[in-house]
Amino acid sequence: MFNPQQFRLQFPYFRDTQAVTYLDSAATALKPQALIDATLDFYQSSGSVHRSQYDEKQTALYEQARHRVRTLLNAESDNAVIWTSGTTQAINTVANGLLAHIKAGDEIIISEADHHANFVTWTETAKKCGAKLHILPIGDDWLIDKSALLARLNPKTKVVALNFVSNVTGTQQPIEELITLIRRHSQALVLVDAAQAISHLAIDVQKIDADFIAFSAHKLYGPNGIGVLSGKLKALEMLEPLNFGGKMVARVDKTAISFAELPYRLEAGTPNIAGVIGFNAVLEWLQQYDIAQMEQHAVALAQQVKNRLKTYAQCRLFDSPQPSSVVCFLFEHIHCADLATLMAEQHIALRSGVHCAQPYLARLGRSATLRLSFAPYNLQQDVENFFVALDSSLALLRE
Ligand SMILES: Cc1ncc(COP(=O)(O)O)c(C=O)c1O
Repeated sequence: MFNPQQFRLQFPYFRDTQAVTYLDSAATALKPQALIDATLDFYQSSGSVHRSQYDEKQTALYEQARHRVRTLLNAESDNAVIWTSGTTQAINTVANGLLAHIKAGDEIIISEADHHANFVTWTETAKKCGAKLHILPIGDDWLIDKSALLARLNPKTKVVALNFVSNVTGTQQPIEELITLIRRHSQALVLVDAAQAISHLAIDVQKIDADFIAFSAHKLYGPNGIGVLSGKLKALEMLEPLNFGGKMVARVDKTAISFAELPYRLEAGTPNIAGVIGFNAVLEWLQQYDIAQMEQHAVALAQQVKNRLKTYAQCRLFDSPQPSSVVCFLFEHIHCADLATLMAEQHIALRSGVHCAQPYLARLGRSATLRLSFAPYNLQQDVENFFVALDSSLALLRE
């Protein structure tokens, strides 16, 4: 059975008894000791990876991380795991890599559920290619409108880029069902933005049948500056490299250049070795925990907060149709930034603003919301700290 106290002890952040109550894990997760130890070990060693005879140890850890990600996602092979700097770069790698395949008059589909990493990237890509961009609406349950998707799919649809779990409301899209629909009615390549999903769900990329999937390690207790692009080898092989340089080539002479095989073809230059090796340690450490049980704990805390917030006058909740560890809310007639500032003064870390998802906020009809995001290391005491600070902030603002 998952023990949140034991889990919390793995995070040095909580050794500081004055630590801010951290309720912003959807932005970035706290870091476990396992990551810090592995990173320190790396920086106390020497060398690069895949460069010299003496860098065998680093190279083995680096490739072990790739294998762990393959297992995490049930990807086709280790070669279908490409290191990027994060979700944003992974999506840009796909969009840039497909430029030659998308012609004027082709169509690209995104939705109102998207983070800017997906929304802006495909909007700009459509402009560059002269492709038509369709933005699917989301319903009052924040789910992508399936009939709108059906109406948009046709032989010209080249890419459908979907959000899996929303960073705004925590809403989970029925990704498998959506991809089945897409396959039935088009030949489109499907990209899944799993930046949030990766820390909440067990993902099987082959089962959901995605061509591309992207996530960032920092949302899964890993280091900043490292992320993953994975998917089907056949789809990844279609991508023109975003970056050119060392280690992504097979042969270079003055008249001709040939590229290396996947994954190296898409990983030019010296990689973020510390990031990958640190993430390797995180993935190994995570194996002892059951993701469903961890999620259940975080969701229970969030649900309790939602129930309590419902008793507050003028509190508006934007709840997801499924249980979620995200609480998206605001108080009518109180600026979110004002409330967040008072909460920060009382050592509560929460998020206020547009959450890098302005089309989503427009759909909610709001210029900002507040967001709490619970993680398995949060405890009941964090909930109590939040409400003590909330009550005193509201009292001040309503004076
Ligand atoms: C749903 C979603 N997509 C994409 C991103 C972008 O991730 P990154 O900034 O790590 O590239 C985020 C980050 O908050 C996100 O929540």
